[in-house]
Amino acid sequence: MTQTPTAPAVALESVTRTYRSRAGSVHALRGLTHAFARGSFTAIMGPSGSGKSTLLQIAAGLDRPSHGRVTIGGTALDSLNETALTRFRRTSMAFVFQSYNLLDALTAFDNVALPARLAGLRVDRAAVTDALDRVGLRDLARRRPPELSGGQQQRVAIARALHGRPDVIFADEPTGALDRNTGREVLALLRALADGGQTIVMVTHDPLAASYADETLFLADGQIVGRLHRADAAAVASRMNDLERR
Ligand SMILES: Nc1ncnc2c1ncn2[C@@H]1O[C@H](COP(=O)(O)OP(=O)(O)OP(=O)(O)O)[C@@H](O)[C@H]1O
Ligand SMILES: [Mg+2]
Repeated sequence: MTQTPTAPAVALESVTRTYRSRAGSVHALRGLTHAFARGSFTAIMGPSGSGKSTLLQIAAGLDRPSHGRVTIGGTALDSLNETALTRFRRTSMAFVFQSYNLLDALTAFDNVALPARLAGLRVDRAAVTDALDRVGLRDLARRRPPELSGGQQQRVAIARALHGRPDVIFADEPTGALDRNTGREVLALLRALADGGQTIVMVTHDPLAASYADETLFLADGQIVGRLHRADAAAVASRMNDLERR
């Protein structure tokens, strides 16, 4: 869904998120501003508690900022009521998680088609096959997840994300459950998708994963405290070490 061709895929403007409880306030995000360009692949890293999950949830409209604004493809999320937001989220974004979240009883094909079916949309079989083709699984469309390797299952999940033609794919530790070589294959696939114009925002703890991104953002205490452009895994690891020793 493309509203404003020149707008960034995702933009955060002065976003804060404060959790309030009887024990006091937690400032999970403290004024975060960043534009994720279309077709960019961004890794988000930072120590535990630095705000990575909060950032992903707010960018995806699953949580609302305390202050500030999120726009996706030029649409401000705060301009949408809950029903409109749910509909907008379905067409503008998709998720890939560490756990692939596939249904074991369904074939790869039907797993990819499921979100559209649940949304009551007509399933375009050619588009499902095309999504499986883009992740290299065209020939395994009739297999069920228990008959696929971990890397293949994650590729089904990526095909499911692609099928909705989202403005942005949010990935949360997409290689967290994979061995190193399989993880590299999945990262190379994400890289290729970004090179083809797909915007990807990925939270990761793994410097190797971040090395596939165009840019790595480092969070600490709810703020962006650094960024590296096209950095190798060693450079990312070294920056992470500095942050964890602060
Ligand atoms: N629902 C909540 N209520 C209160 N505080 C919260 C809530 N969710 C997160 N926090 C706090 O907000 C801060 C940021 O949490 P967040 O989950 O975004 O960190 P993270 O970077 O994802 O960490 P991790 O790497 O451990 O997953 C932490 O201090 C956390 O304790
Ligand atoms: Mg987290």
